[in-house]
Amino acid sequence: MGDSNFINEIKKRRTFAIISHPDAGKTTMTEKLLLYGNQIQVAGTVKGRGSDRHATSDWMEMEKERGISVTTSVMQFPYKDCTVNLLDTPGHEDFSEDTYRTLTAVDSALMVIDGAKGVEPRTIKLMEVCRLRDTPILSFINKMDRDIRDPIDLLDEIESILNINCAPITWPIGMGKLFKGVYNLYQDTTYLYKTGQGHTIQQVRAIKGLDNPELDAAVGDLAGDLRDELELVKGASHEFDMQDFLEGRLTPVFFGTALGNFGVDHLLDGLVQWAPSPQGRETDTRMVEAKDENFTGFVFKIQANMDPKHRDRIAFMRVCSGHYEKGMRMRHVRLGKDVRISDALTFRAGEREHLEDAWPGDIIGLHNHGTIQIGDTFTNGEVMNFQGIPHFAPELFRRVQLRDPLKSKQLQKGITQLSEEGATQVFMPLRNNDIIVGAVGVLQFDVVAYRLKDEYKVECSYDNISVATARWVYCEDAKMLEDFKKKCHDNLAIDGGGYLTYLAPTRVNLELTMERWPDVKFKKTREH
Ligand code: G4P
Repeated sequence: MGDSNFINEIKKRRTFAIISHPDAGKTTMTEKLLLYGNQIQVAGTVKGRGSDRHATSDWMEMEKERGISVTTSVMQFPYKDCTVNLLDTPGHEDFSEDTYRTLTAVDSALMVIDGAKGVEPRTIKLMEVCRLRDTPILSFINKMDRDIRDPIDLLDEIESILNINCAPITWPIGMGKLFKGVYNLYQDTTYLYKTGQGHTIQQVRAIKGLDNPELDAAVGDLAGDLRDELELVKGASHEFDMQDFLEGRLTPVFFGTALGNFGVDHLLDGLVQWAPSPQGRETDTRMVEAKDENFTGFVFKIQANMDPKHRDRIAFMRVCSGHYEKGMRMRHVRLGKDVRISDALTFRAGEREHLEDAWPGDIIGLHNHGTIQIGDTFTNGEVMNFQGIPHFAPELFRRVQLRDPLKSKQLQKGITQLSEEGATQVFMPLRNNDIIVGAVGVLQFDVVAYRLKDEYKVECSYDNISVATARWVYCEDAKMLEDFKKKCHDNLAIDGGGYLTYLAPTRVNLELTMERWPDVKFKKTREH
């Protein structure tokens, strides 16, 4: 491997996620991106809508019924000279923890906004998460084929509510039934699309120059409207500025329809042209840059039973530096063990394939037999841990009631696997054999019960339980920890990762306990 090849592979990578409010068009946009990436020939086949793949999974059925997407998938596709990694994030807010961790694994994000609805609550929340790491954001204002709001108002709304400057890259020509295409401000060219061709990559008619009479001939009065609007836009918006974009202060904005496939090509061009290649990541010992030749990566997601045929668990690792080669040895830092990885997976259009090579920014799937946890770091031997991939203390707790007592082994297995995956958190009290699950949002409980039944054939229900909150406890003084464990035995539990946790019956109880044990640390998040 030559140095220049290594650097070239890094420069080619774009790793991003789509953030949006449910129904804004994330799934449709994903399909169109895969269409341009040559991963599918005809859009409308990725996620069900009558396709076989949808029908094979009841789990997906539940997603469909509820109109939520709860699993994170990873898709890799080539576009122009780049290799694009798209990480799908669950849309429903009950899965925000999962989304949070996925966003730690990307270098940029695409915000899809429904042009009729503008900035919605989930968009605001996801932007807050992106802000934590100043992730660069590209924006796509979708559904221009409907009667949407005034585009200038929409930009104002994004600027004021999301506190980010907007730089329109394209501008819509008409809207609703009259939506014809977009004018690219930086190419001074109008692009006209055909309606009803959204499932394919279509021939686009390009007209150079805003004053070109061809434009008037093609779109009539809309040409004059466009010229007037652009005058206003130039005064009212920001110019694209690379530094501001990279620092998360400005977002390039593209207009279009994902369904009709207008303007998606411009967005993709913007992504490969401007979105950053793989960025460095902080560890507890040093900053790791993508160009460091030593291999490093971290696990941000574990998913069980991705493919009902395989019944396995996959750990998703973001490669942060170095080069993965099939059969290489890696150090599993938390376990202090070297492992040989010869069966890692890559994901194209949601299908798994065996992986030969991976570069910084890529996501690789590792078969997990229970030894990998979310947040685990892998290196070529160096002892360090990537930071910022936490578990959050849940706020809702239920005791699991098994309907058939003979299935307790399956329950144990299912619950452990779902907790490794981050679908729920599990706590085993020291004082009895209860199984307590913790969640950030209520819907998570339903999902866990459904999946236990569907994937593990275990039926269960929940009891309410008087736990108000949880804290992970640490103490450097081993003797004191023993003392604490004795005195607080009844409120202590071991979580799914084997960590000691204090389950507080009330907030007041937690405060008192913390006062009583000033040298014991009570943490709201768990990291290695
Ligand atoms: P999500 O993943 O963000 O939740 O959104 P999704 O892509 O599933 O889109 C939500 C709905 O919006 C879908 O309609 C989809 O067809 C529609 N949609 C997406 N992009 C556009 C667009 O550019 N223009 C218009 N007019 N509609 C768009 P649905 O009725 O829920 O599903 P379907 O049965 O039509 O597929």
